[in-house]
Amino acid sequence: VGLVAAVGLADFGNSVTGCDIDGEKIDKLNRGIPTIYEPGIEEYLKRSVENGRLSFTADVPAAVRAAEVVFLAVGTPQGDDGSADLSQVEEAAKTVGRNLDGYKVVVTKSTVPVGTNRRIKGIIQNEAPGKSFDVVSNPEFLREGRAVHDFFHPDRIVIGCESERAKETMEDIYRALYLIQSPFVWCGLETAEIRAHDPEAMETFKRLFPDVSYESKSYDAVISADAAVIVTEWNEYRTLDLPKLKASMRGNI
Ligand SMILES: NC(=O)c1ccc[n+]([C@@H]2O[C@H](COP(=O)([O-])OP(=O)(O)OC[C@H]3O[C@@H](n4cnc5c(N)ncnc54)[C@H](O)[C@@H]3O)[C@@H](O)[C@H]2O)c1
Repeated sequence: VGLVAAVGLADFGNSVTGCDIDGEKIDKLNRGIPTIYEPGIEEYLKRSVENGRLSFTADVPAAVRAAEVVFLAVGTPQGDDGSADLSQVEEAAKTVGRNLDGYKVVVTKSTVPVGTNRRIKGIIQNEAPGKSFDVVSNPEFLREGRAVHDFFHPDRIVIGCESERAKETMEDIYRALYLIQSPFVWCGLETAEIRAHDPEAMETFKRLFPDVSYESKSYDAVISADAAVIVTEWNEYRTLDLPKLKASMRGNI
């Protein structure tokens, strides 16, 4: 995801530095060799590296210090219980905090459960007390094998942010999509995050919508949610204990 976003954002005219703690990946990328297979990525990579808009480094702290906007696209592997392991996200957020030398927008591209962006904000605040920054949620909806195409032709661009300054920065970064009138969906940090539960369809859905968090229990899907949408006639849902469901929600829509 990080590489697709890096080549895509560079192609929009932004100056992009891709960074990774994996030095081998960085070496390959600096030689113009993509580390994933996605149709079209090699051409975009080559073009942006050649025209100087895209470079790669394993010096993550230096890349953070030099950036106005930092995209977090680290892995969030799923554990056996289906929950996401957020240790890479937390580590990356710490690196950002320790290297926050001026106002920056920190954008989460990794697929994270509800509440994680708030947590990222807390981690950065701890590492950089009093420093100014904004956290933005910008989930990606890329299909495997069509990731480059999907990045350039999105159905919608979902951006969760809480400040006008961050909104203007995101508009600027995505200006190429703005110009072709791709639909932008602006929302708060949490509203950009969706959880779902469907015992039958979940496995197929995961492949189509990797950014949704999937819960194995219906009640878990509404914890801290502002709204719950029940779209089924299954008896399991007819018999839901709605007061119990409401009690674990934050809102009551
Ligand atoms: N919706 C989509 O379209 C879609 C598709 C695939 C993945 N994703 C999500 O995007 C995220 C990334 O997935 P991926 O497949 O690109 O993962 P990946 O494992 O291929 O890439 C993540 C990279 O992050 C690097 N990394 C880890 N910790 C780091 C740190 N502290 N600083 C710098 N780099 C660090 C790793 O070395 C690795 O190269 C995941 O959350 C995944 O669920 C979304």
